[in-house]
Amino acid sequence: MIRTRSLVKDFVVGRGRTVHAVCGIDLDVAPDELVAVLGPNGAGKTTTMRMLTTLIPPTSGTATVAGHDVVAEPAAVRRRIGYVGQGNGAGHAQRPRDELYTQGLVYGLDRRVAGRRADELLESLDLTELGTRRVSDLSGGQRRRLDVAMGLVHAPSLLFLDEPSTGLDPHNRANLWQHIAAMRAAHHMTIVLTTHYLDEADAMAERVVVVDHGRVIADDSPDALKARLAGDRVTLTAADPAATARLLARVLGAREVAVDGETVTARVADGPGALPELLGAARDTGVGIRTAQLDRPTLDDVFLALTGRSLRESTATDPTETEQKDAA
Ligand SMILES: Nc1ncnc2c1ncn2[C@@H]1O[C@H](COP(=O)(O)OP(=O)(O)OP(=O)(O)O)[C@@H](O)[C@H]1O
Ligand SMILES: [Mg+2]
Repeated sequence: MIRTRSLVKDFVVGRGRTVHAVCGIDLDVAPDELVAVLGPNGAGKTTTMRMLTTLIPPTSGTATVAGHDVVAEPAAVRRRIGYVGQGNGAGHAQRPRDELYTQGLVYGLDRRVAGRRADELLESLDLTELGTRRVSDLSGGQRRRLDVAMGLVHAPSLLFLDEPSTGLDPHNRANLWQHIAAMRAAHHMTIVLTTHYLDEADAMAERVVVVDHGRVIADDSPDALKARLAGDRVTLTAADPAATARLLARVLGAREVAVDGETVTARVADGPGALPELLGAARDTGVGIRTAQLDRPTLDDVFLALTGRSLRESTATDPTETEQKDAA
């Protein structure tokens, strides 16, 4: 559904300064996949989406979306995709059903089909009761569901969602996800989304693409990323921390072993399997372990391992910016 090679976007921001927003992204997305793109503020997620949805042209590189080149055949791409941008899309003074109906006409549906489609979408996104209210009277969660409905009017086979759940309370987030999952199952849609909620990406996406400074720094299933890059964290308290640390390294090949007072922490590849093995070895060798705690890694641990920064706190590390050299 998507294939990009060396995709680049530079923004010239005046006085010969250039922001390198996207610095050579290679991305492949297969039909029916749900891919979550993660990265700190300013990483280049929205810019990438805007190129893939033909809203802005790439500076260089290639992108094929739903079988069509984004530069050579933008109209063909647009017919196949839906896009829900980072802000709200529906006009505040409008009414949800009218907005969906008009959107259908814009996409070339005839009046009857557009009307039916509007009603189906209102129903499947739980908005039927609200169809004739003003958009400005809807709650944030209801409005975001309407945005998603707007992106689905022409039954796209590929849907882009830029931070669909940002700003929603946990209940509305869960509800939106339920609807997205149901739409996906019903229509065999490929979905590419961005989110700052790592738990959400972990639970919903089969694949996570981590972007930092305009580059892809990891691309795999959440489980594979966590297993490969982070491992499980073991925290032990022991009478002899030094001996415990040695045991951890020797028996389990633990990494990042650290001792702080009576507490020993380390990373191990397979925590649930490793803990019984460790406790058995401790008993055999007479190393007394008092308490043992196991924490499964999060995607934030993955980002930390990759960049040395936490994704949760990591905002707006300056994008790569250069002074443009005068070519003449
Ligand atoms: N039209 C523009 N002109 C100049 N710079 C831009 C423009 N659009 C984006 N940028 C810059 O490009 C970089 C990437 O921005 P982008 O919006 O893609 O980030 P993002 O990963 O979506 O971040 P967020 O998580 O905050 O939404 C940022 O440094 C941003 O300031
Ligand atoms: Mg963005």
